Amino acid sequence: MLDFEVQKESCTLCGECAADCPARIIAMGDDGYPFIAPEKEASCYKCQHCLAICPTGSISILGLDPAGSIALTGVTGGYPDPVALETLIKGRRSVRRYKNENLDPALFQHLLDVAWHAPTGVNSRQVRFTVLDSKEKMAQFRDDVMAGLGKMVKESTLPAGMEYYTNFVKIWEKHHVDLLFRDAPHLLVASAPKCVASPVQDCLIALSYFELFAQSNGVGTVWNGLVYKVINDLLPLNRQRLGIPDDHVIGYAMVFGKPDVHFVRTVQHTPALIHRALNE
Ligand SMILES: Cc1cc2nc3c(=O)[nH]c(=O)nc-3n(C[C@H](O)[C@H](O)[C@H](O)COP(=O)(O)O)c2cc1C
Repeated sequence: MLDFEVQKESCTLCGECAADCPARIIAMGDDGYPFIAPEKEASCYKCQHCLAICPTGSISILGLDPAGSIALTGVTGGYPDPVALETLIKGRRSVRRYKNENLDPALFQHLLDVAWHAPTGVNSRQVRFTVLDSKEKMAQFRDDVMAGLGKMVKESTLPAGMEYYTNFVKIWEKHHVDLLFRDAPHLLVASAPKCVASPVQDCLIALSYFELFAQSNGVGTVWNGLVYKVINDLLPLNRQRLGIPDDHVIGYAMVFGKPDVHFVRTVQHTPALIHRALNE
């Protein structure tokens, strides 16, 4: 049941809800008001565009009260101004030096809650955030991973092409320098069920949103291919240990925490690679 409800006192019959419905299941009835025929309910994306677009807040779906949404008002709809967003995109850096501190739990939760709003294919909304929420858990996990890799190095069982992990293990064993997790206090692994339309893409988009929002909150992040490969390929027992379901595909891993580094300017990348197709 979608619980699609229209407040007839305030509905202006503008038809925006019907016009924007991606599944095109909202119709304007003989009485002029929008409705969803029961046999069409199964096709709903649950995207809530009808609730989001109604100029008078007259539509409720899935039991949601439009008053619970953030209002998008003013010329920019309350979005950050483009210069600020550009600075964030250009100023965001991979952080590889972290303070030995846990993030404030409320901020930790908030970062994940906001990243959860990232789009997913067919609005499947199945991305699962597996996290290590304390530096103590992270230290324990890192010790296990390093021990597992150390065993592979000793027994020469690192697969071909992955021998470069040997150096990471040696540097860890000799100097306690952590080139894998970069001494970050927290780990985030995004995974999604294999059966959804675009599991890997959904995870990567969620992580991208997480990264930008985290950095705008003064939280450092780095995408972590080395840890991803450990969990996904080299030491799959660690995947189980993290409780990532067997029917999930891992999108990627990221580590994060309070930065112990401060960048004072953006980098300067070469011009974008743009191919204007169909130019005769
Ligand atoms: C898919 C992906 C995987 C990455 N894996 C690692 C990694 O395992 N360890 C690391 O230190 N940095 C990793 N990085 C960070 C890149 O090295 C970094 O983005 C690049 O050097 C540019 O630096 P910037 O992010 O500060 O602009 C990864 C980045 C991406 C996008």
